[in-house]
Amino acid sequence: MQNQNKLILEVQNLETVYHGVMRVLRGMSLKVPEGGVVALLGPNGAGKTTALRSITGLLDIHEGKITKGKINFFGEDISKVSAHIRVWRGMGQVMEGRRIFPELTVSENLQSGAFGVGRKTMLDRMEAAYERFPRLKERKDQEAGYLSGGEQQMLALSRTLMSNPKLLVLDEPSLGLAPNIVSQVKELIREIHKEGVSILLVEQNAAMAMELADYVYILETGKIVRDGTPEELREDEDIQEFYLGIGGEKRTSYREVKHYRRRKRWLS
Ligand SMILES: Nc1ncnc2c1ncn2[C@@H]1O[C@H](COP(=O)(O)OP(=O)(O)OP(=O)(O)O)[C@@H](O)[C@H]1O
Ligand SMILES: [Mg+2]
Repeated sequence: MQNQNKLILEVQNLETVYHGVMRVLRGMSLKVPEGGVVALLGPNGAGKTTALRSITGLLDIHEGKITKGKINFFGEDISKVSAHIRVWRGMGQVMEGRRIFPELTVSENLQSGAFGVGRKTMLDRMEAAYERFPRLKERKDQEAGYLSGGEQQMLALSRTLMSNPKLLVLDEPSLGLAPNIVSQVKELIREIHKEGVSILLVEQNAAMAMELADYVYILETGKIVRDGTPEELREDEDIQEFYLGIGGEKRTSYREVKHYRRRKRWLS
């Protein structure tokens, strides 16, 4: 059962389209309790990034639109509130591809994340980021584009922390990183969570996400097809087969695996 703390985020029955025609989310719902770490898993094209864009307010710049449903943040529907106001109210995000500004220096990148923050607070938070990542401090006056992939991910996360978010929304933070860097990112997310930030994490790396999360949702073709604690999902043979890559022939979706197993059971 999902933690029953007060909800920081509740997505209700969300439907979206791109370019006025292409339906992606088809009635998606999920909850993030205060202090929770929730993972959203699913195959390519399921609509995970679209869900996060809807939550953070970035759907319109991608020619997308919410056609139905609600997004409650601290109990208030924010689906029509602009992206920067959501940041100001405590929603931080690192979207796909860790969009840092490659031509700006490391310290300028950090400053760009300090939205509506006074100078003293900004400098304190920058100092905290440098303490966390001495590597960023060493390179604070260098262009961020020269950082390694892992360092850029650390910078992207640190930049987001400059606005002191209450909810951190992450789209595939492990993508394209070497295994040792993935475990650093995992530790960092744990630390941020311990400091009191609630987390919504989209991942292709299901094993990593299940280690971090206290509740998991699985999205396929725009709908949640399964949810549960990592313990519950680990016991589910279909999840093991498709998401954790344990046993089985190649399948393209959780539902397909489920269907196939049922049939196999029925035939045997
Ligand atoms: N700006 C856009 N305009 C039109 N269609 C889009 C746009 N962005 C995404 N889509 C489509 O919406 C569907 C869902 O895409 P989305 O990026 O949300 O999936 P995802 O689950 O994040 O996939 P991935 O694991 O590959 O990141 C896909 O069919 C995709 O092609
Ligand atoms: Mg995506």
